[in-house]
Amino acid sequence: NKDQLIMGIETSCDETAVAIIKNGREIAANVVASQIESHKRFGGVVPEIASRHHVEQITIVLEEALNQANISYEDLSAIAVTEGPGLVGALLVGVNAAKAVAFAHGIPLVGVHHIAGHIYANRLVREMVFPLLSLVVSGGHTELVYMKEHGHFEVIGETRDDAAGEAYDKVARTLSLPYPGGPHIDRLAQEGEPSISLPRAWLEEGSYDFSFSGLKSAVINTVHNAEQRGDQIKPEDLAASFQQSVIDVLVTKTSKAAKEYNVKQVLLAGGVAANKGLRTALQEEFTKLPKCELVIPPLSLCTDNAAMIAAAGSVLFEKGIQSTMALNANPGLDI
Ligand code: KG4
Ligand code: ZN
Repeated sequence: NKDQLIMGIETSCDETAVAIIKNGREIAANVVASQIESHKRFGGVVPEIASRHHVEQITIVLEEALNQANISYEDLSAIAVTEGPGLVGALLVGVNAAKAVAFAHGIPLVGVHHIAGHIYANRLVREMVFPLLSLVVSGGHTELVYMKEHGHFEVIGETRDDAAGEAYDKVARTLSLPYPGGPHIDRLAQEGEPSISLPRAWLEEGSYDFSFSGLKSAVINTVHNAEQRGDQIKPEDLAASFQQSVIDVLVTKTSKAAKEYNVKQVLLAGGVAANKGLRTALQEEFTKLPKCELVIPPLSLCTDNAAMIAAAGSVLFEKGIQSTMALNANPGLDI
């Protein structure tokens, strides 16, 4: 009865991350090398810079993860790696590192979808109970995903334009806040009042889709109009109003879908899941649905990491799913 040890590798955007998970749910190592400082002065992630940093960091981060877990490659049951979606040059570094290590040491390889990873971050906190619903809110994605069993993903709603995190980052830019703007807006919002009227995109009756570009434009227009009139608007009030608008739509649609699909759990996932306002609003909403358990991972497992990729890879590997050496980066991979 040997322990199952899965290594996860994640390089889809601007974090070079390697983790090792024991028996699907226990974190033995979790290393994240962030590149945020290098991208900050450009106001966003520069793909070419991201790829170069991944190349520089990947072997260092691999070694550090093995050291943290106090194991060697020979002890691993499998290597899970993000194959997509993401930046192609960034993904390629992780995929090729995983293939090289798997080939050199004869270890099975498992390709993982980045969003599946975000969802499985929750399994490091609680065992998953099906059917479940996951609200995935990140810089690139806003999706409501229904799961009736491990490995089964049904997207019941998604954004038609900007992702929630993207809207946060663009609004932050309008307010001259540094990249990534989400945490700054979140902090400002707690000091302000949601006193400025902004739109909420409910879309057609019954739709679980989202849209944030109208809201983003409304914030930009509010700032420009105020500038032209020479009015002062408090940035904290604008942040609070924007955040309230995003949260109202996310919480209302998630709660409605949880009831309609009669799910036993709701899992919050993705970088925007770190948002304090969203966490609190969901917790309040779900006290009204006592039969449905709300799971919210700690902040470090919400933003990009490799523990979540190993957690998802562990379940796929148990199911007998493996990738071949033909595994390739797929920037537009569907879940
Ligand atoms: O999941 P993630 O690390 O990367 C992607 O896969 O996209 O998400 C990054 C996004 C960024 O847009 C960032 O601004 C947002 O998550 N974010 C937040 C907060 N912390 C990170 N958004 C709102 N409130 C936060 N506290
Ligand atoms: Zn992500």
